[in-house]
Amino acid sequence: MGMHERFQLKSVEDLSDKIRALGIHMPVSVDIDALRQPVRLGDRVIPNSMAIQPMEGCDGTAAGEPDELTFRRYRRFASGGAGLIWIEATAVVPEGRANPRQLYLCRQNKDGFARLLDTIMEIAKAHFGPDHRPYTVIQLTHSGRYSKPEGRPAPIIAARNPYLDGNLPDDYPVISDEQLKELEDRFVEAAELASEIGFDAVDIKSCHRYLNSELLSAFTREGNYGGSFENRTRFLINIVDKIKQRLGDAIDVTLRLNGYDAIPYPYGWGVDKEDHRKPDLTEPIRLVKILRDKGIKMVNITCGNPYYNPHVNRPYDSGPYIPLEHPLEGVARMLGFAKKIQDSVPDIVVLSSGLSWLRHLSPYAAAGGIKEGWFKIAGFGRMAFAYPDFARDVLEKGALDEKKCCIACGKCSEIMRDGGKAGCVIRDAEVYAPIYKAGREGKPPIQSNRLAEHV
Ligand SMILES: Cc1cc2nc3c(=O)[nH]c(=O)nc-3n(C[C@H](O)[C@H](O)[C@H](O)COP(=O)(O)O)c2cc1C
Repeated sequence: MGMHERFQLKSVEDLSDKIRALGIHMPVSVDIDALRQPVRLGDRVIPNSMAIQPMEGCDGTAAGEPDELTFRRYRRFASGGAGLIWIEATAVVPEGRANPRQLYLCRQNKDGFARLLDTIMEIAKAHFGPDHRPYTVIQLTHSGRYSKPEGRPAPIIAARNPYLDGNLPDDYPVISDEQLKELEDRFVEAAELASEIGFDAVDIKSCHRYLNSELLSAFTREGNYGGSFENRTRFLINIVDKIKQRLGDAIDVTLRLNGYDAIPYPYGWGVDKEDHRKPDLTEPIRLVKILRDKGIKMVNITCGNPYYNPHVNRPYDSGPYIPLEHPLEGVARMLGFAKKIQDSVPDIVVLSSGLSWLRHLSPYAAAGGIKEGWFKIAGFGRMAFAYPDFARDVLEKGALDEKKCCIACGKCSEIMRDGGKAGCVIRDAEVYAPIYKAGREGKPPIQSNRLAEHV
């Protein structure tokens, strides 16, 4: 394993040298034309191979409709040219919201989401012409143990977990099978609303250890939703089946899935039973194959948990601890998961995560990945907050401007932890620097020089 270091790479040659020096495997291509390629998904064509990952702004109205800053963010994304816009975590029940400003899709809020979609389409068309219609996915979520609907933690847990339980009392309840069964229907209702509104797809969020992701690793849970692979995947599969039964092909169903949690077995998904630092993708691959057979055409692969092991989820220069690895190893690991799933299920579109740490060099890894068949669409998260025009610059200028890129400083995540509205503090400073400053006042630093011990 390499030592953690901040980004210092200037050129593609530097990147290739660093890959060699670390002894890792990662695709790089100087020719970035692959990012311009349209991607066929069923009968839809995604206009290019770049996607904006779901990025929560925590800036909806108290009722959960998109608000001023939400509209601003998606206007910027739509004029940025990415072929696919994956709309952020949107709760299906109020008690499952991760913060009091998280979006919440319900009948009363439908018009607000319809206006948001109209805005995205109008702006994309105005900038790129009628042939450019970004593919839109809305991420449906229940925040599970990270629910904070009133701004205070109000965890809803699927199973006890010594690594994540923190101060939860011993008798804290676990969500019941009956409640889970009812919740499945809330996801289906939200999918129906999304279909009425006209989104291309719903994502049944299955990542980052929110409720459904936690269920995938609920090895120790009793009853119908815990223990065996069949039980642990039941919630997700039931939701997919019910949506398909109710809506047929009216809306695509997709998911953002953790390749692995990096949490020890029997509390983590996709991990080697002896050593949780080593992935074992046997179950994730098995799941993706089942979903493919049910008509799912795309899967967005990510990993880790933003609270417990954030460097696994979003390789960074600065964060709550210094990881015991080089950030490029984290990037390569994430791209490697996409590759393993893409290789195992070639007839599905795999979307990759975790490129933003690479800054202006990210298009070369993204294009390399597509050219070498590691994945079919490259996803950009923090980069989109910092540089919403990144895709347009790739398409029109063939390169990114170093001075506009995300610097993986972790401040957008800090805003979230502080309960503020999230965005890029560095590149979008006029709006977000004051929010960041106000949120930090009187609080101990989140960023730390402590070495990671647990991951
Ligand atoms: C402020 C912030 C908000 C995020 N919100 C979401 C979200 O709503 N849903 C999701 O699946 N991932 C979310 N993520 C994770 C990103 O989508 C992405 O996976 C991660 O930042 C790594 O990709 P990157 O290197 O391109 O940033 C969020 C990340 C950050 C920093």
